[in-house]
Amino acid sequence: MSDPSFAYRSSPYRYIARYRDGKWEDGYLSRDENIVLNESACVLQYAQNVFEGLKARKTREGRIIIFRPDRNAARMRESCERMAMPPYPEELFLRAVDETVRANANVIPSCEDGSSFYLRPFMIGTDPVLGVKPATEYEFRIFGSPVGRYFSRMIKLRICDLDRVAPHGTGHVKAGLNYAMSLYAITEAHALGYDENLYLDSASRTYIEETGGANIFFISRDGKLITPRSDTILPSITRDSLLTVASEYLGIRTEERPVRIDEIPDFAECGLCGTAAVISPVQSIDDHGNIHTFFREISQEDSVTQRIKKVLTEIQEGRRPGPDGWIHEVSFT
Ligand code: PLP
Ligand code: COI
Repeated sequence: MSDPSFAYRSSPYRYIARYRDGKWEDGYLSRDENIVLNESACVLQYAQNVFEGLKARKTREGRIIIFRPDRNAARMRESCERMAMPPYPEELFLRAVDETVRANANVIPSCEDGSSFYLRPFMIGTDPVLGVKPATEYEFRIFGSPVGRYFSRMIKLRICDLDRVAPHGTGHVKAGLNYAMSLYAITEAHALGYDENLYLDSASRTYIEETGGANIFFISRDGKLITPRSDTILPSITRDSLLTVASEYLGIRTEERPVRIDEIPDFAECGLCGTAAVISPVQSIDDHGNIHTFFREISQEDSVTQRIKKVLTEIQEGRRPGPDGWIHEVSFT
């Protein structure tokens, strides 16, 4: 791709389905990238929306493959349930993803330079409400955008004093409101020269949670992969996959457990993981002026992070077989 950034670029077709009178109507492809809504639509007044993110990749041989779309379908159902929205049936979600990819096949870039076609399924409450209650009508859409890398350099994080989610809140689902909560903090972080915020658990401010748009992992000095366990972070499909890659492909020991903020200096490496972030190494974490720098003792290229990233991206790009069911190939026949 000539401009390899992570940004919205309109593609020719999007998939649309509407929920009315208690049921989902047949979906269709549309060239119209705009949505016209009533001024009191539930999504506009009370933020009733959920979304997903997944990537279609065009391989060297011209096949188009998608990484674990069944996990996104299931997570979107869980997000809908938490947001009092009618889930879009998982098998229809998967069919809609394929239709969107097929319709836009000629704008999907080759994955060879790290580019992909980022798919953004989402759902919004569309009918007018004024009292606080869920909508009765919904729109499900999938659009796609050719994208490049989310992070263009090694990441500088700062510990954030603001919270994006709450205990017993919505941190474990992919609802737009969690991201709205992070907009002030990300603007401030960028202005101060950081790439992302690292959030702590809002109950005790003792444990590491995740960043605004990705999960976090650490590599201990003895080479173990450690990721935070928490009920208030998004269960990342990339993180689940890298835990499998580490243990089953590379023989790396893994631990999913609460990670205290005061453990940061014990770790040799740190990275972010997510669909957009893929696996991106973290250079430093700034805890109120106390800066911890990773990858001190090893070059980035020889790191455990790099070894895991190499295998995961080979699987995601169809260059190495993955576990059963991880790669879905879009059929054109
Ligand atoms: N955490 C947050 C807050 C995210 O927005 C994302 C992105 O989807 C992730 C984690 C990573 O999840 P996944 O690997 O399923 O994309
Ligand atoms: C994704 O990785 O799919 C996300 O939704 C994260 C967002 C920051 C782009």
